[in-house]
Amino acid sequence: MNAPEQSLKLSHIVKTYGPVEVLKGVDLDVRRGEFVVFVGPSGCGKSTLMRIIAGLETQTAGTVEIGGRNVDATVPAKRGIAMVFQSYALYPHLTVAGNMTLALKEDGVSKPEREARVEKAANLLQLSPLLKRRPAELSGGQRQRVAIGRAIVREPTLFLFDEPLSNLDAALRVATRLEIAKLHRTLGATMIYVTHDQTEAMTLADRIVVLNAGMVQQVGRPIDLYNRPDNLFVAGFIGSPKMNFLTGRIAEEADAMTVGIRPEHLKVDPQGVWAGTVRHAEHLGSDTYLYVVLGDGQEVTVRIPEETPIAVDDAVRLSPLPGRIHRFDAAGLTIPSA
Ligand SMILES: Nc1ncnc2c1ncn2[C@@H]1O[C@H](COP(=O)(O)OP(=O)(O)OP(=O)(O)O)[C@@H](O)[C@H]1O
Ligand SMILES: [Mg+2]
Repeated sequence: MNAPEQSLKLSHIVKTYGPVEVLKGVDLDVRRGEFVVFVGPSGCGKSTLMRIIAGLETQTAGTVEIGGRNVDATVPAKRGIAMVFQSYALYPHLTVAGNMTLALKEDGVSKPEREARVEKAANLLQLSPLLKRRPAELSGGQRQRVAIGRAIVREPTLFLFDEPLSNLDAALRVATRLEIAKLHRTLGATMIYVTHDQTEAMTLADRIVVLNAGMVQQVGRPIDLYNRPDNLFVAGFIGSPKMNFLTGRIAEEADAMTVGIRPEHLKVDPQGVWAGTVRHAEHLGSDTYLYVVLGDGQEVTVRIPEETPIAVDDAVRLSPLPGRIHRFDAAGLTIPSA
């Protein structure tokens, strides 16, 4: 029965709250050691799915298997998982070490074993000099690392992270993101991670799961979702700034209902096929985003990788880079290129 290579298997998970169907039949296989990231708009069911995996919520239908074993009747503490939430309540009266060992104590892990695990986790997370402090004496990033440490010491087979970095400032997010990536390499553990941050999703994930309205839209490697989205939703969701969508004559010429072109795949080009006027320009230092209204009134974003003399009200012509146009049919599904 045991499938050691398979860490998590979700089979047709449905969740309803009264008349509302929040998850509409989610299937997913996660291999051991894989880093899987869930993305999707607010309210699409990411946290509900995490809570069902953890056993904090019961699915209306479907099954959850962890490490090849059905855990539907297994309480959270016995599922071999550890969860890190956005709001990681630490106990204010306990030290860092105390917070990290509390659950182990409750599980009956011996004192020497507890100390060994805390030492190891503290080393990994650079918390060793802070073990005797209380949460009030730590920075936000340090507290977040304690919450991660508290998960590590349990030596779970499956880590669940639900937007663990969203309380941190930009610099700390990047630093902690790198730490989580390193942690994943070092521990070789399976990780499931929810984020709204494109960069986190693209850089951390072995595979990304795109959810919308309780349904999986596409599962794949980040670069494959970026290059070969299955449908309009995934095309518009993955990538920042988001893909431009054009309809009407421009789409008809490409034999599609809608065509998509990413801002970084448009070039300002005197010979360009599309003519328009710059309505707004955003200078980010490394990049400039031009907002261009085309002749037919449709607006596109163009990302050019440098400072530019182009200014608001300038007339420009644009060319799509060859092979970078995405075509969609009336149902919003990608039309494979010939
Ligand atoms: N206990 C509940 N009773 C009724 N509806 C609920 C309950 N919990 C969640 N929902 C609804 O289920 C849907 C999914 O919620 P969930 O928290 O999973 O979304 P999410 O994808 O995590 O969103 P976010 O990105 O904002 O965290 C939402 O529409 C939410 O309002
Ligand atoms: Mg959520």
